[in-house]
Order: sequence, then C-alpha cells, then structure tokens
Amino acid sequence: MQILFASSHTHDPDVWINPLRKALPYLEFVQWDENGDSINAELAIVWNPPTQIFEREKNLRAVFNLGAGVDAILQRPGLTDNVAIYRLEDAGMAVQMAEYATWALLRASRNFDAYQQQQQQKNWERLPDIQRDAWPVGVLGLGVMGGRVAQTLAGFDYPVAGWSRSAKQLDGVETWAGDEQFAGFLARTRVLINTLPLTSETHSILCRKTFEQLLPGACIINMGRGEHLVEQDLLAMLDEGHIQQATLDVFAQEPLPADHPFWAHPGVTVTPHMSAASLRDVTIRQTAEKVRAFIAGEPVSGLVERNRGY
Ligand code: NAP
Ligand code: GLV
Repeated sequence: MQILFASSHTHDPDVWINPLRKALPYLEFVQWDENGDSINAELAIVWNPPTQIFEREKNLRAVFNLGAGVDAILQRPGLTDNVAIYRLEDAGMAVQMAEYATWALLRASRNFDAYQQQQQQKNWERLPDIQRDAWPVGVLGLGVMGGRVAQTLAGFDYPVAGWSRSAKQLDGVETWAGDEQFAGFLARTRVLINTLPLTSETHSILCRKTFEQLLPGACIINMGRGEHLVEQDLLAMLDEGHIQQATLDVFAQEPLPADHPFWAHPGVTVTPHMSAASLRDVTIRQTAEKVRAFIAGEPVSGLVERNRGY
C-alpha cells in the first residue's frame, strides 16, 4: 500500500520519511510531487499540505497530521467527510507552551522587562514586589496545551482560570465553560493566554469586545493561531492603554511581513511560531503507531471531530 508524504515544514523530507519507512516497512512512501499526478493514495502524512491535495488524491481514507492544529487541512478544497483526520497529541509541545507562557507572564508580573531596561541605564532600583493577586491568568482552551499551561502557572501560585467548550475539572484551576460563561471568565482575567484551535467559532475571538471585558493593564499571549486575533483591535487597545503588552507567536500571515506594525510596537513581542515544536522522534513514533492501528482496524486516538473543527 502507498502512503503519501506531503509536508511544507521541512527542507529535507528524508529526515521524516526514512524513520517512518523503518517504522512502517510494509508501506511504500511517496513524496508529494508538485507537478505529479495522483498516486491514488489511501493514506497521507501531512503538515500544512498543498492546496490541491484532496482535489488530486480522491481516494484518501485517512490523513495523519504532523501537528496539533488541523485548521490548514480543514481549509483545503475537495476534502470530503469520508476522510478521517488524526492530529498529533502533545509530542513534547505542551511543556514548551507552558514554558513560553511562563516566560511571557513573568516579564510583566516580575518586572523583568523593566529591569532589563534599567540595566541599560545602569539604574539599580528595586521595583515593587510581586502581588500575585494582581495577575489573574485566564487560559483559553483547556486541552492538551491549555491544560498544561494552566496547571503550570497555577503551580507558581497565580490565580488561574481556564475556559473550554465542555466543563472540566483541573486541580488548582478555576474552570469556566461555554459561551454563557465567557463574560464571567474574562471579567476576572488580566493575563489572557490563547491555546484554542482555529475554528469557525474561535476565529477573531481576540477582538475589542473580548479585550474590553478584561481587567485593565491586560496582557495577551497568543499561541493559538494568527486568525484568532483582530490585529487592528489589539493595536488600538495597546495605544489606548487598556492592554499593557502582547506576546504573539502566531500570525495571520507568516512570516510576519517586514512592514507590519507589530515588529516595532513597544508593547508587542513577536516570536516566529516557535512557542512549541513537536519533538521529531516522538512525533514519528506516535504517527507510525496511529497509521499501524488504522490499517489494523484498531481504534486510533486523536480523531478530529469534523463538526467541531478540531
Ligand atoms: P485540544 O487538546 O483539542 O484542545 C482544544 C481546547 O480548546 C479544548 O479544551 C476545547 O474544549 C477548547 N475549545 C475548542 N473550541 C472551543 C470553543 N468554541 N469554545 C471554548 N473552548 C473551545 O488541542 P491542543 O492540542 O491543546 O492544541 C490547541 C491548539 O494549539 C492547536 O489547534 C494549535 O492551533 C495550537 N498550537 C500552536 C502551537 C504553536 O507552536 N504556536 C503548537 C501546538 C499547538 P473541550 O475540551 O471542551 O473540547
Ligand atoms: C503547531 O502550530 C501545531 O499546531 O502543531
């Protein structure tokens, strides 16, 4: 049986294909050829796949994503309900997201950015000590990523809440669920951390209406997707002072264009979609196991629910 490999992530696909071939020796791996014809593949392993993948490969039964977010796959034309999509689960990313969120939060709450500036001025001055109650954290999404972020920050004794679609229980985290509890969640939050998947429901969720409900001096940390954020609303509310700082890892256009106002804005920190990178060995092991189980007709974890969009 042939399996298609189509990833825009790597300049050297062999670093993925060779170990996958070793783990699944009974499959013939075929790399996507931009100018090629259909290979009538039933299975594909992808990351940010080519636009025409589903229009060319009409016999696909299952697609295994080399990442957590499946928004790029779901946007490709020609995708039918017959194709099962499986996403990567954690693969070393959740702990990295927790690190990133911790870094971004501490820069504000412990005055580390301010101390860095003071050093440049050779200024030895202790700023007011931290008051954790002044930094209530709210995490959007309490899945694999958000759950780890919320519990990590709760471990530093910040007041942490999380918001998800369905109700959850997480030690040390105040949990809120559903649209009807969104306003209450925002009203107690100063540091808003986004780990949601991009869906029709979550698109543009980081907008003025959301920001206005946060506590003053709000901080925004976006690790979800760029399309969650209404960029003009963020810029306006930074300039108005309601938002103190934004740490952004993901953007509607990546790479972020050189003339984008985020690069130079004093309240914005930009990182190049690196808050969490899947670990290659773990990813290969996990993906190979999903493919094996699918072929064997066994249950496969990480199935994307198409009606939810994640
Ligand atoms: P996940 O385990 O599926 O968790 C998604 C969470 O979002 C769940 O708690 C879900 O609620 C919640 N959610 C979804 N739609 C919602 C809605 N309309 N209202 C409220 N809550 C909603 O996914 P994950 O593995 O944590 O990954 C999340 C996202 O992180 C990915 O889709 C990707 O976009 C992003 N990501 C970014 C990077 C990076 O490097 N920047 C790396 C990895 C992942 P339920 O629990 O009720 O289902
Ligand atoms: C990265 O952004 C992912 O979704 O895995």
